[in-house]
Amino acid sequence: MTVTIVGSQLGDEGKGRVVDLYSDEADVVVRYQGGDNAGHTVCHSGEEYKLSLVPSGAIRGKVGVLGNGCVINPRTLFDELEMLRERGLEPDVRVAERAHVIMPFHRVLDGIEEDVKSEDDQEVGTTGRGIGPTYEDKAGRRGVRIGDLLDPEVLRERLEYVVPQKRAIADDVYDLDPDDLEAYPNAFDIDALFEEFREYGRRIEREDMAVNAGAFLSDAREAGKRLMLEGAQGTIIDIDHGNYPYVTSSNPTAGGATVGTGLSPGVIGDGEVIGIVKAYLTRVGSGPLPTELAGVEGDTPGYDGDSDPAEEELATYIREAGDEYGTVTGRPRRVGWLDLPMLRHSTRASGFTGLAVNHVDTLAGLDELKVADAYELDGEQLETMPATTEQWADCEPVYRTFDGWDDQDWDVIAEDGYEALPENARTYLEYVSDELDVPIYAIGVGPSREDTIVRERPY
Ligand code: GDP
Ligand code: IMO
Ligand code: MG
Repeated sequence: MTVTIVGSQLGDEGKGRVVDLYSDEADVVVRYQGGDNAGHTVCHSGEEYKLSLVPSGAIRGKVGVLGNGCVINPRTLFDELEMLRERGLEPDVRVAERAHVIMPFHRVLDGIEEDVKSEDDQEVGTTGRGIGPTYEDKAGRRGVRIGDLLDPEVLRERLEYVVPQKRAIADDVYDLDPDDLEAYPNAFDIDALFEEFREYGRRIEREDMAVNAGAFLSDAREAGKRLMLEGAQGTIIDIDHGNYPYVTSSNPTAGGATVGTGLSPGVIGDGEVIGIVKAYLTRVGSGPLPTELAGVEGDTPGYDGDSDPAEEELATYIREAGDEYGTVTGRPRRVGWLDLPMLRHSTRASGFTGLAVNHVDTLAGLDELKVADAYELDGEQLETMPATTEQWADCEPVYRTFDGWDDQDWDVIAEDGYEALPENARTYLEYVSDELDVPIYAIGVGPSREDTIVRERPY
């Protein structure tokens, strides 16, 4: 059986910690989309791991697979594997031969496109990892795949086709000398790229990492192995279901789990799909956020540092309490109240069978909390998100207010279970569960594996 973990909001909901929580009962943990734009945190027994590519199940010694839907930067992958080995783990990671490879020129192009867009305040605020340009080349049928790294003739042929195109774009469109880039001196040099990436191919072969992901996973499933599918990013930055163009370039929603692994929709749909919810909202990068408190200069559209002091105080309180700074980029995350129209949209798109709600501890100490129960747009009340980003930006939240809860000895609560939670926290959680008609499987009351109230085990 499969368990699919999906971010229900804008990423950083705490997916890594839920994968870690439940993967003790899994055999294989698979990333199905995204690349090293992800930053998944796993903490237990005082150890903290931040993973960009290696599936979070590696911390429990599970086999990890990077599915065909991923885009893989081999430099990051091997660095991360090395880091884990230095910390005493023995990660076993396989990579799909069909997955696409992030090349240095993808990173360069990601950066320059963002620079150009920023001249008109239109930048997405990407992680700069080359994600968008790599998926563009995949769709444009000019990408380099993991399987190509294993075959020198094919690799050279692919590079000889694609690199001159990229040189022309850098030079003619962006007026950049492709041979004079300080950070990436060889990004557009066919021979240098061939040498470096062929060596990654040899290493993948030596370490027996390449797999036909669909076949590998189906065989594992038929042999009775339990699979966990680890989504990266979140529904509202999904390229189809998110707030385009302020999105990533893949499908974090549950449909991505089938396309990005080669497991059929029936297999994924037969399993559990757990929506990961942060008890409030955070966002890294640009784009609207109707329930945002105050703003972050450079990221919040139109924000110039002038905000309501009470909102600023709340945003700072939550940001500091939740340590809301980007795992990948270190940027302060934008903060807002929980948004039910957003969660209704996410629940529909992925068909959540259970929820994990994190950061209930972070909200402790507030007198009252708000939740957007609906939106008002042009005199009409909306229960779910409109399809255009411009309309979403115009939505006024219709808030419902909840009484807050005090800080607690969360270790004790995690041990004693759900009934030990403050009554006001239970009221808040039950409202979310009732509105979405989805049971809550787990509640995070701190960053660590031990700080979790587990109500249901999905396997
Ligand atoms: P992911 O990308 O969805 O895996 O989430 P991130 O790891 O980027 O961000 C979540 C952050 O919140 C990490 O620093 C986690 O350690 C932390 N975290 C997760 N759940 C909880 C929780 O219930 N309480 C607190 N205080 N921190 C949490
Ligand atoms: P995890 O898996 C939060 C955001 C970026 C930017 C947009 C596009 O840790 O939840 P990209 O580099 O993907 O082209 O950037 O998406 N973004 C994330 N935000 N969590 C993530 O991953 C993210 N991955 C990308 O900030 O707004
Ligand atoms: Mg993250």
